[in-house]
Amino acid sequence: MNLPTRVKLVEVGPRDGLQNEPGEVPLEVRVELIDRLGAAGLTVIEAGSFTSPRWVPQMAGSGEVLQRIRRRPGVDYPVLVPNARGLELAIAAGAKEIAVFAAASETFSRRNINCGIDESLERYAAVTEGALAAGLRVRGYVSCVLGCPYEGAVGPAAVARVAERLYALGCHEVSLGDTIGTGTPLAARRMVEVVAERVPLERLAAHFHDTYGQALANLLAVLQLGVAVIDSSVAGLGGCPYAAGASGNVATEDVLYMLDGMGIETGVDLAGLLEASAFISDALGRPPASRVALALAGRG
Ligand code: HMG
Ligand code: MG
Repeated sequence: MNLPTRVKLVEVGPRDGLQNEPGEVPLEVRVELIDRLGAAGLTVIEAGSFTSPRWVPQMAGSGEVLQRIRRRPGVDYPVLVPNARGLELAIAAGAKEIAVFAAASETFSRRNINCGIDESLERYAAVTEGALAAGLRVRGYVSCVLGCPYEGAVGPAAVARVAERLYALGCHEVSLGDTIGTGTPLAARRMVEVVAERVPLERLAAHFHDTYGQALANLLAVLQLGVAVIDSSVAGLGGCPYAAGASGNVATEDVLYMLDGMGIETGVDLAGLLEASAFISDALGRPPASRVALALAGRG
């Protein structure tokens, strides 16, 4: 076992979560959610997405969100960028970090960003070069690392190939997304082992969805390899609009409870996080998809 003593939590709820809401979430709710997450001690909060509003209307107004949040020192607010236009808009809105998002599955890539994997990587080469030249940091995503809604099983070699390319472009971190949550612990561990032959382990993040109830088990499996960056979503918000059946990312509350219980530091305060979770759940009019938030509701 090679458990880390400290884990960085990357909060993706305001983007990966809210991009999947059927109704419109008011801008002030998005802003307040981000501010509350920052107050709870999260140091990376994905704040929005500069994708086409025709494809993902939920993320329209991300520029205004970036401008209205109370930026805390030491907190990064990355935003998703699919192309040169997105980069231009993100820079104009004051983004300091962007995330480019590729996939390990050809069909998912085409459905999600309307181009194949190799074309997407060419596009991201230019986006990353432009972002780095402008002084921004770039994070990379690989989706469908343990399964694809269109192609089924995805092998670790396909994931490693894309992860390696993103890292070579200059991404400081590569996040491995089990977009439809079909992975199980040994497959998750094997996938990370294969990717870590091409990208340093300390540059990898685990981005697991809980569709089949496997996310915490999968996280534990890769924590034991030494993975020390975990993406999660407050209240278990989200899914992916181009991945039918993808329920939310693993809930940040559930991950934090597990890490706290294992004595692994995160710097995040569970009480503050639960407040943010209650805030967004009230705003959306439904209970949180977090076992910990439900278990602790009403106590205290
Ligand atoms: P396209 O239709 O091929 O693009 O879409 P296009 O260049 O032909 O442009 C079409 C129209 O969109 C044009 O407008 C452009 O100006 C506009 P029109 O002239 O027709 O009025 N446009 C834009 N507008 C604003 N910002 C932009 C932009 N780009 C073009 N950046 C495109 C290609 C990539 C734009 C589209 O497919 C897209 O936006 N896709 C985003 C899909 C998405 O956001 N999916 C969810 C995120 S991925 C995910 O959640 C997985 C992850 O969380 C990891 C995991 O869970 O595994 C990361
Ligand atoms: Mg996701």
